Amino acid sequence: MPLLGILTFFILCASTSLAQDKSVDLQTRCGASFSDIYKPVQIQVNEDSDCTWSIVRPANETTRIVFSILDLNTAADCSQENVTVLDQNLQVLGVLCPNSPRIDVFETPGSAYLRVSTNSDALVRTVYLMYYSFAPGNEAAVCGGQINGYSGSISSPNYPSRHPHFAYCVWHLETPKNTKIDLSFTEIFLEVDAVCRFDFIALYDGPTTNSPILDVLCGRTVAELETTSNTLTVVLSTDYANSYYGFNLNYVALPENNSSSLFCSGEKMTVIFDPSYINSLGYNANELTLIDTSCGPVSSNPIAFNVPYTSCGTVRKVEDHVISYTNIITAISTGVITRRKKIEFVMTCELDNESIVEIMYVTENDIIQESQETGKYDVSLSFYQTQDFTTPVLESPYYIELNNTLFLQATLKTQDPGLTLFTESCFASSKSNFSDPTYSLLQNGCAKDRTYHNFPSGSGFARFSFSAFKFIEEYPSVYLQCRVVICDANDPGSRCNQGCITRNRRDLGSNVRKVSAVVGPIRLKRQSDVDPLGPVSEKRGEDSTSETSNIYLFGILVLVVNVLLVAFIVLRNSRKKPNSYEYQALPTE
Ligand SMILES: *[C@@H]1O[C@H](CO)[C@@H](O)[C@H](O)[C@H]1NC(C)=O
Ligand SMILES: *[C@@H]1O[C@H](CO)[C@@H](O)[C@H](O)[C@H]1NC(C)=O
Ligand SMILES: *[C@@H]1O[C@H](CO)[C@@H](O)[C@H](O)[C@H]1NC(C)=O
Ligand SMILES: *[C@@H]1O[C@H](CO)[C@@H](O)[C@H](O)[C@H]1NC(C)=O
Ligand SMILES: *[C@@H]1O[C@H](CO)[C@@H](O)[C@H](O)[C@H]1NC(C)=O
Ligand SMILES: *[C@@H]1O[C@H](CO)[C@@H](O)[C@H](O)[C@H]1NC(C)=O
Ligand SMILES: *[C@@H]1O[C@H](CO)[C@@H](O)[C@H](O)[C@H]1NC(C)=O
Repeated sequence: MPLLGILTFFILCASTSLAQDKSVDLQTRCGASFSDIYKPVQIQVNEDSDCTWSIVRPANETTRIVFSILDLNTAADCSQENVTVLDQNLQVLGVLCPNSPRIDVFETPGSAYLRVSTNSDALVRTVYLMYYSFAPGNEAAVCGGQINGYSGSISSPNYPSRHPHFAYCVWHLETPKNTKIDLSFTEIFLEVDAVCRFDFIALYDGPTTNSPILDVLCGRTVAELETTSNTLTVVLSTDYANSYYGFNLNYVALPENNSSSLFCSGEKMTVIFDPSYINSLGYNANELTLIDTSCGPVSSNPIAFNVPYTSCGTVRKVEDHVISYTNIITAISTGVITRRKKIEFVMTCELDNESIVEIMYVTENDIIQESQETGKYDVSLSFYQTQDFTTPVLESPYYIELNNTLFLQATLKTQDPGLTLFTESCFASSKSNFSDPTYSLLQNGCAKDRTYHNFPSGSGFARFSFSAFKFIEEYPSVYLQCRVVICDANDPGSRCNQGCITRNRRDLGSNVRKVSAVVGPIRLKRQSDVDPLGPVSEKRGEDSTSETSNIYLFGILVLVVNVLLVAFIVLRNSRKKPNSYEYQALPTE
């Protein structure tokens, strides 16, 4: 057994050193053509070059091209010097410019072409790429994916065994808002190359591979990195030879700027502490609880609390029609005496009547610190088939007939049953940017269109209907924008109970800004006479109702995708003082 181990060790060492000598043919001849299933290609060109290399592959295969070195003349302009990637129909898949990231990946059916153009500056340019093709659905490795959480690990396929050849894995990692991601590689063991041309890990500081590159890693190493926000993209790309153990990394979400972070969603508060901060105060995770001491953290590294609005001792308040939820994290001290500071973190998520504001008070002895963040309250808007609002319309786009009645419901995503919604204004535009012309359906709660009708609202929803219309003249689409107000259901004086307000505009203090609701295009109409716009080409098949199956559609189709509430910060000082000082009892030991 030991002998076998030693043997394996030597084989590994030997192949590791061999890897450094992987021979890559230089493609200096202008415009070669390749037909291999896979091939590493290192292109070197000088000034005034304009060459096109061809990758000739069957149309029933997918060709993936992985660029890992892009060393063009950085003094050149992209219009003079670039690598243009074309598909089998000579359509441009992408253009790599002198300042483009060194890693880029393209996938296309069948053949592809690379046109390399350089300007007249006398120097050598180097581009390294590897391409391979595979039958669709026949990838060498199934890997990557979306990962959400506070902490965890990511490793290469088969880890700790050897990774597959021709792997291309993309992991999208997302932690709670207002956090950043701390990464620590416990092992990286990939083919050795001074510039990581062959097998590599690329890390992007953001949600996609278009985000800035944090680092490109290969060989035998370890690394620690940190993102600037709560998203990270990890790519693993491997080629046809020299497969080692791959990599393993651990990640943990930490507060973005400070030692603690708070994020308020429509459903809960999420609080994250850096464990070293809590440790520096003399406590550890399992000594912290919410008001209801049976509610503790859901994670100890980082220390994370999910605070529900309706339990764990959360206090709900309505003041001036503003709804807020407050909870407190304290440390349980056991024993008779303590030399530790008493700590108390007061978190308040304030649900502004039109959006959400978050305030976090951190009390440490009698020092009150606070941080504020903005949040987004989730309201979605969707069509329903009939006025009983039982069946949402799932098809998209939604085709209706002109003068049909459209039923819409705005729904608030919340755990709190005591909230209601009020549609305060809605207007339509033929443009997705809501430029003129516009048409007002509802303003200050007053119907401006005679077909507009409100249905009774209830816990977490508001409903209305109007008749489909279209803009006269050439406009084929209608977009709808609504503003939704959120109220306490038991607050008789709230905006939701005031209906139409016609007197001079309500006083929206300068610190209360509008919440925009998103709208999508509506389109539709029955055609029996002249069809000024012709058939709508994007009409989707399978209209199940026979009455609509034979009509041309040219009118207006409003496709309501969702409602976006534009979040904003209400500066604490520009609001009246928060009323939560009653939570501020700060006895010190
Ligand atoms: C790439 O370079 C070629 C040759 O100079 C030029 O014709 C083309 O417009 C450039 N592409 C872009 C996107 O600038
Ligand atoms: C692709 O097409 C070729 C003929 O052009 C055929 O021989 C081959 O089996 C096809 N491959 C797949 C995966 O369908
Ligand atoms: C962190 O700081 C940056 C820059 O100072 C700021 O843009 C960002 O909003 C802050 N994030 C939080 C959660 O306070
Ligand atoms: C959090 O960070 C911001 C700036 O990044 C700073 O102004 C604020 O005082 C910090 N809060 C705490 C509690 O440290
Ligand atoms: C629209 O429908 C209403 C009743 O459903 C009807 O009275 C009106 O005439 C219709 N208008 C058009 C232009 O078809
Ligand atoms: C809105 O979009 C249209 C095209 O859809 C454009 O012509 C118009 O300039 C845009 N208006 C604004 C204010 O961006
Ligand atoms: C929202 O609350 C503010 C007070 O905080 C009030 O002045 C305003 O009228 C309210 N808006 C609505 C639509 O209720």
